[in-house]
Amino acid sequence: MKIIMLGAPGAGKGTQAKMIADKYGIPHISTGDIFRANIKEGTELGQKAKTYMDQGLLVPDELVVDLVVDRVGKEDCANGYVLDGFPRTIPQAESLDAALDKLGEKIDFALNVEVPDENIVNRMSGRRACVSCGATYHIVHIPTKVEGICDRCGSELILRDDDKPETVQKRLGVYHEQTQPLIDYYKAKEVLVEVDGTKDMQDVFTDIVNILGA
Ligand code: AP5
Ligand code: MG
Repeated sequence: MKIIMLGAPGAGKGTQAKMIADKYGIPHISTGDIFRANIKEGTELGQKAKTYMDQGLLVPDELVVDLVVDRVGKEDCANGYVLDGFPRTIPQAESLDAALDKLGEKIDFALNVEVPDENIVNRMSGRRACVSCGATYHIVHIPTKVEGICDRCGSELILRDDDKPETVQKRLGVYHEQTQPLIDYYKAKEVLVEVDGTKDMQDVFTDIVNILGA
């Protein structure tokens, strides 16, 4: 099962993608997590990506497309995967389709997690993220057992550099301009499904499982 998560920054793509990956036993591929891991390790890719991410801008397509195309060709992706944060522009979607075409494969579901902009800023300021395993929490909605420590892997949690309110506003603008057009792109391919992301996290997941099938 090949799944794409669409939705604004903070809609809950990562939260749901992780739950989908666990339930269906497929890899969760988050381009944001890949960039953050590279930043943490101080790689060249990480240094390049950081200058864009800190401003709330998208990293250029050429830095992200090959990375994802390579990743989905790996053996652990044979039974499918859940892509989180990719594609984010029409050229990225077209490059992915071209790569899948060559393999005789296609995307099965593009899940659009819908949350109005008003709810987003509040979610982001309370978010805490684990750079080691990618888990995401919220200080009020989804607290950890021990403050500041990841429940899954025990690492220290961070407040992301791009979660400052003014950067979140910028990211929302970039989303509406460059990423939202993908909704029509996947609608035309008849794989788009809308999901109400304002519900409680578990209820959102139940809706998604009903769409994907047990
Ligand atoms: P990325 O890491 O993908 O960030 P994003 O798309 O902006 O999305 P977020 O991760 O902020 O939100 P999310 O939807 O995953 O929400 P989450 O589950 O955490 O990208 C970061 C940057 O990297 C980009 O800005 C760009 O620069 C670059 N980049 C990445 N991919 C790229 C690409 N393909 N091309 C170019 N550049 C790229 O949830 C948010 C919060 O809400 C959490 O605290 C969570 O606990 C809480 N929450 C979740 N669900 C609920 C719920 N139902 N109710 C209440 N709270 C909830
Ligand atoms: Mg995310």
